[in-house]
Amino acid sequence: PREPADPADLLEWYDRHARAMPWRVGPAERASGQRPDPYRIWLSEIMLQQTTVAAVKSYFEAFTTRWPHVTDLAAAEDGDVMAAWAGLGYYARARNLLKCARVVTRDHNGVFPDDPAVLLTLPGVGPYTAAAVSAIAHDLPETVVDGNVERVMARLYDEHTPLPAAKPILTEYARALTPQLRPGDYAQAVMDLGATICTPRNPACGLCPWRPSCAAWAMGTQTELPKKSPK
Ligand code: ADE
Repeated sequence: PREPADPADLLEWYDRHARAMPWRVGPAERASGQRPDPYRIWLSEIMLQQTTVAAVKSYFEAFTTRWPHVTDLAAAEDGDVMAAWAGLGYYARARNLLKCARVVTRDHNGVFPDDPAVLLTLPGVGPYTAAAVSAIAHDLPETVVDGNVERVMARLYDEHTPLPAAKPILTEYARALTPQLRPGDYAQAVMDLGATICTPRNPACGLCPWRPSCAAWAMGTQTELPKKSPK
């Protein structure tokens, strides 16, 4: 019989293979007590919606060099922010970005909230971003579900219900696995696993820390999952 998936095995893999990203805090800084900056996590997560990590990196560097704190962004001219965003696409994101920075500055003293319910009241912040900021920046045990996480869960539990109907099922699997210990690293570890090992095509199952627990691996169904309803 298979071992249940253990978040600790994934965290051990993440400690060795985490992708370096400009908004992440490395192991050395972490060891000296540094936490990720909620402003930088929020900004990166908004930029990463519909845009790849590789494309986001230079925009993220440009934004945070020019506007190092949320209060700096709040004080920017609309036109300067829209011009800096040019190329990332989905311009409603940029307009909401500026609105959100101004609400955090005006109503929250320039301090990003940590409570997901409060985060959800901010412009442009939906369940995904609220969970990502609480988990990654504040290490709260919130469950972050993006397309990578859906794919990892569909395979781990050999879930054949097609998306989008599968979404609540996959979200519940992900929630049940979220550990109390290092939930922020865990959230990023599942996304990294989905992006680098548990990829849509040709997943590198031989390198996967969860292969002994993976129901799709046992059934040989990994490349068929997740299933999608015909449009
Ligand atoms: N995609 C979106 N947010 C991410 C994150 N924090 N880590 C890895 N991939 C991501």
